[in-house]
Amino acid sequence: MKNEKILIIGACGQIGVELTLALRKVYGSDQVIATDIRNEHPLLKGSGPYYSLNALDAVATYELVKKESITQIYLLAALLSATGEKDPKRTWDINMESMLGVLDIGVQEKLNKIYWPSSIAVFGPTTPRDHTPQQTIVEPRTVYGISKYAGELWCQYYHQRWGLDVRSMRYPGLISWKSEPGGGTTDYAVEIYIEALKKSKYTCFLSESTYLPMMYMDDAIRGTIELMEASADKIKTRMAYNISAMSFSPREITSAIQYHIPEFKIEYNPDFRQQIADGWPRSIDDRAARADWGWQHEFDLNRMTYDMLKQLKKKLQLA
Ligand code: SER
Repeated sequence: MKNEKILIIGACGQIGVELTLALRKVYGSDQVIATDIRNEHPLLKGSGPYYSLNALDAVATYELVKKESITQIYLLAALLSATGEKDPKRTWDINMESMLGVLDIGVQEKLNKIYWPSSIAVFGPTTPRDHTPQQTIVEPRTVYGISKYAGELWCQYYHQRWGLDVRSMRYPGLISWKSEPGGGTTDYAVEIYIEALKKSKYTCFLSESTYLPMMYMDDAIRGTIELMEASADKIKTRMAYNISAMSFSPREITSAIQYHIPEFKIEYNPDFRQQIADGWPRSIDDRAARADWGWQHEFDLNRMTYDMLKQLKKKLQLA
């Protein structure tokens, strides 16, 4: 573990910022090279090495891997579900080309491990929506979901064919305060906290009873590092693991916020994202992740709400 040198592609995104900071704590600042096509995120500044990198530029990625003697890659660059529907072909190109480029580098350079995230978006309206099993009907209807499912199959293929140690999990909606979410259907569950604090009201783009699986970022980051550090014999699927923490509807998160901000009001004005949400699971069966490598969540809706409001108050200087 000590000699790992990690490359993070997409380090300035919602997951990337926190994962980079967490990995730097575990492996050491200089052992984790952060890259993104965007300018360096303010929270990353001064915390370790940073390069500008386009995830689609396989040559530049390869050169950086050689130059920095990289042993592991975390590929986090992607367009998400809602943004993806606006330009399906571009989403497919970005999500798949970056991934296949990294998998090839992994084989060629005999990298120790690769991490590539999947999503509950792999599931679709024909999937059982409650306690969705690890293995079930998978017919995604968004281009993001299609790219994630194809990606899972590629992970499995590269593992079987070339022994590449590539690991993945299907994140539910991720809720965070440090870095901004980017174009997902579950992003309402971040916006709602910010608007509750700023304006005591929020107009939700999903209907009040739309249940979706969600997770606090602290759990997602810890789980990701635990999956990557688990011994290889514990990883029984080379597709992606279901992982789960909580499920709630806009009405339920509203009640949890009203406990702290009683004057908070919500209105509902569902848009195109409603249809995406209606095709996704309401809850996830993650027993395989729990049994195989010991996944456990720590945050439920109330604990997360308490922490989100406390942290955002400080961040937005409303305290
Ligand atoms: N949070 C993502 C989205 O809504 C799901 O992976 O697109």
